[in-house]
Amino acid sequence: MTDSPHGFPPRTASYEADPEQVRRVLLLYSGGLDTSVMLKWIQDQYDAEVVCLTVNLGQPGEDYEVIEGKARMLGALDCHVVDAREEFARDYVIPAIKANALYGGGYPLFTALGRPLIAKLAVDHARSSGCDTIAHGCTGKGNDQVRIEATVATLAPELKTIAPVRSWQMGREEEIAYAQEHGIPIKTHQAGGTGSETAPYSIDDNLWGRSSEGRWIEDLDHAPEDDVFQLVTRPELAPDQAEVVEVEFERGVPVGLNGLRLELVELIERVAAVAARHGVGIVDHIEDRIVGLKVRDIYEAPAAAILLPAHQELEKLVCTIHQNQFKAQLDRQWAYLVYAGLWWEPLRTDLDAYMDSVNEQVTGTIGLKLYKGHARVVTRSSPNAVYDQALASFGESGGLFSQTASPGFIELWSLQSRMAWRLRNK
Ligand code: ARG
Repeated sequence: MTDSPHGFPPRTASYEADPEQVRRVLLLYSGGLDTSVMLKWIQDQYDAEVVCLTVNLGQPGEDYEVIEGKARMLGALDCHVVDAREEFARDYVIPAIKANALYGGGYPLFTALGRPLIAKLAVDHARSSGCDTIAHGCTGKGNDQVRIEATVATLAPELKTIAPVRSWQMGREEEIAYAQEHGIPIKTHQAGGTGSETAPYSIDDNLWGRSSEGRWIEDLDHAPEDDVFQLVTRPELAPDQAEVVEVEFERGVPVGLNGLRLELVELIERVAAVAARHGVGIVDHIEDRIVGLKVRDIYEAPAAAILLPAHQELEKLVCTIHQNQFKAQLDRQWAYLVYAGLWWEPLRTDLDAYMDSVNEQVTGTIGLKLYKGHARVVTRSSPNAVYDQALASFGESGGLFSQTASPGFIELWSLQSRMAWRLRNK
């Protein structure tokens, strides 16, 4: 392989930008080291203009004025800050709740849900600000590059992408050196109270959860160090008093908390706060990435750790045995598609139609008891429950349920199994 005249690696995919054609770039800007270095680097290397876009998906503790000021200081033509929390909650988190979405048995997909929206907003802003190219800060080892580039290539075939981290071959030290040379301010991270400077964890967060990767997390044999938990109280420090929370759903959508009706974003934030206080929502997860690697992540997803089990419990109550058995398979397929970056795949829309249909019945209230890292369902109520207390009542007979009919049922139900047993055990 030979390098292009600019020293850029050769292009592999149709949607990758030809360095000669890059005039104005929409950069997905977080304000962190990678994308700040990138903001300068793109101006230098491509001799191009850069417009920044920063998306608020409810990640705590961001100062968007500071981010915007930094972008302008580093030469951005413009910096748009978009508050997309409501759209994220309504159009991405709600479908995930309706699909009980957990990948690999533990990951509630917050990053996987956020990326297609971020990339869609990048497309909108690239178009409205006359950009020809979209740049992002994802590495070549993760799923996020897949989610972003697949979205751009799907929604905007006329736009190209560049992913400088995949090609610039700078490590953290070189990036810091580049930043110092180019007057890019860098935050320093202190760890362990020793005053020594260490690389930070690689963090991604939004209102549905937070992930940490890197450092000792890559050592599978290393138990979590305390400083990784920035959102959820460590269970051993959680209150000694348990707390019950009641979540009310209407047609699969959470609408109330402890009897109080709330807007979606606020409801998610409040659920997250109470769960976090009780140490609920920590997941130490090994994940099969779509790019082939296995990676360990530490997740803090307090809102999901309450709302997903609450929804699932209510759904189970209002559905028949047949729906419950079938939907679990579709839920799994939904989570995999979204994890794998195929948000815009028509199968996902097809599955959503089924999810919506089932969720028509998912109305009612679930109570969960939170205690030192655990959330356990303790109460259920729904006008649509396929449940009759009189029928279920132990030892009672009468009404719709006839106990004397049971032997006939058992005879027919077990017929094939009995015949097969006899044949095989002759
Ligand atoms: N492993 C998760 C996923 O693939 C989280 C990724 C977090 N992304 C990040 N850039 N730190 O969705």
